[in-house]
Amino acid sequence: MCGIIGISSNKPVSANIINSLKKLEYRGYDSAGIATLSDGQINEVKSEGRVDNLENNFDLKNLRGNIGIGHVRWATHGIPNSLNAHPHSSHNVSVVHNGIIENSTILKKHLINKGHEFKSQTDTEVIVHLITENLKTSELEEAITKTLEQLDGSFALGIVFRDIPDLIVGARRGSPLAVGYGPNENYLGSDSYALKSMTNKITYLDDGEFCVVKKDQVLFFNEDGKKINKKILEMSSNETNYDKGDFKHFMAKEIEEQPITIKTGIKEYIDNVNKEINIFNFPWKIEEIKSITLIGCGTAYHSCLMAKYWFEELTNLDVSIDIASEFRYRKNRFKKDTLYVFVSQSGETADTYAALDLCNKNSMKTCAIVNVIESSIARDSNFVLPIHCGPEIGVASTKAFLGQILVLYILALKLGSLRNEIEKKEYQEKIKDLKDLPGLIEKTLSYDNDIQAISSTFNEAKGSMFLGRGYSYPIALEGALKLKELSYVHAEGYPAGEMKHGPLALIEEGMPVVVLAPKDSYYKKTISNLQEVVARGAKVLLITNKSKDEVVSENIWETIEVENTNDDLFPFLLTIPLQKLAYYSALKKGYDIDKPRNLAKSVTVE
Ligand code: M6R
Repeated sequence: MCGIIGISSNKPVSANIINSLKKLEYRGYDSAGIATLSDGQINEVKSEGRVDNLENNFDLKNLRGNIGIGHVRWATHGIPNSLNAHPHSSHNVSVVHNGIIENSTILKKHLINKGHEFKSQTDTEVIVHLITENLKTSELEEAITKTLEQLDGSFALGIVFRDIPDLIVGARRGSPLAVGYGPNENYLGSDSYALKSMTNKITYLDDGEFCVVKKDQVLFFNEDGKKINKKILEMSSNETNYDKGDFKHFMAKEIEEQPITIKTGIKEYIDNVNKEINIFNFPWKIEEIKSITLIGCGTAYHSCLMAKYWFEELTNLDVSIDIASEFRYRKNRFKKDTLYVFVSQSGETADTYAALDLCNKNSMKTCAIVNVIESSIARDSNFVLPIHCGPEIGVASTKAFLGQILVLYILALKLGSLRNEIEKKEYQEKIKDLKDLPGLIEKTLSYDNDIQAISSTFNEAKGSMFLGRGYSYPIALEGALKLKELSYVHAEGYPAGEMKHGPLALIEEGMPVVVLAPKDSYYKKTISNLQEVVARGAKVLLITNKSKDEVVSENIWETIEVENTNDDLFPFLLTIPLQKLAYYSALKKGYDIDKPRNLAKSVTVE
């Protein structure tokens, strides 16, 4: 992952580099650093931890230089400390890197034999020394081309040179990189978000390309070192709110924003007057699609699993789902009549992108469901369905999950109707029910206090389990992921019916177990599984929907009731208390909720 920024200007750059690095912290936050060029030298400053630490540890206002690069790191090679923080520099070359150099060990040996001295444990440092070495015998562009040829793996690079002090080189293979254009200055950045406060004019590098960024000119080259022309894109300039407002954390704000997320999604895709779903410019005829494969990572994968249930129910298509890091290395049988759907909030997740790339190389039909519409996954898919959530800053995905499952549900409904698998009346009923969803989410959000109290038990326990069947099973997985990600306590999501095949052995007196059991067609079966864990001493938190019905069991520890809706839509409501449970558990522990340890928002390494 890691975030990269570079600025070439006619005025000092350190303040703008710092501002951009703060925006890039969602890509990594275990160390940060800057290198500027001034008075014939490279000025390098770096610190362990956040950008704030860098600011506190150095007098950055007095860091001179009209050209510079900056980096926030998510460690791959070498522990997160200031020595391994980027930039890495030789006497002449300074480099920031996002990605992994897979042949770094061999290259390092070769460079040590040539007399190069290494200071860090990183793979990145080999790039510094390779360029330094190649510059001894070649001009800049040739030296860069040679260096890139010698590297295996993935990278986005920003490079400055003591002896060529008027430019920054950027290079891309696998990891995203953009160039931005400003008045008397130009930029390099991991994404348009990092550059947004400075420009809305962007060019994205494609794989294999590199660029030379001067304050008044940008040149692009292909992997053979030949000059190429590239388009400048104007990004939408609507200033979105990146503020926490009155909330303590972005996550809390993003949880509360979910009624708006759903309202916006519905507005974008649903014509309420005609009770119809609008998916414009869908590039394929319905007869051309016989099966669907949904691919994602983490929470986005849970969205895929959720969608599998809806697609099977509503479209009667063959549906398979895959974790992107598995899909990309498996021997896949690509089928022309399969629609490959890539789900990603950031649109930059390396494994998901690689899976998409594989499908594109095999000329498959590809569709992206993303939040960031300027992202690599959106740009390289045949068709894009945005989730319209606005920026999600908290590392734990909340509103993007609901946004993803909403778009997937809408797509399933539309395909089901086009395939005549749903009666018109039922189709319109389901569309009508969707209209009520934002209000139901809002009400569910208001049940807060119980969850705050309940969260302590999860923090004190050795571990916990989250169980569900059918539509509730993906939500159980998502609830467990949220809890481990934020509270660092072990939590396991399981299909309730699987417990007796092994995991039941984990249940002991007092273990908290969340059972998701809305009164849908799976209800009775789930309640039997609930009884099985209660009988073995579990403290069951039952999450169900409101009703005056029977007492499920006298031995249930706590019950949370969500609003009533149709069976398809319970997953949206069940998610809310689970997000809050994770939030309050982490809050009680005093953990960094928006930036949990060891993680990053955008996972651009595999
Ligand atoms: O940006 P993406 O949706 O592709 O990210 C995928 C996962 O890294 C992400 O959902 C991750 O699992 C979340 N941090 C979970 O809350």
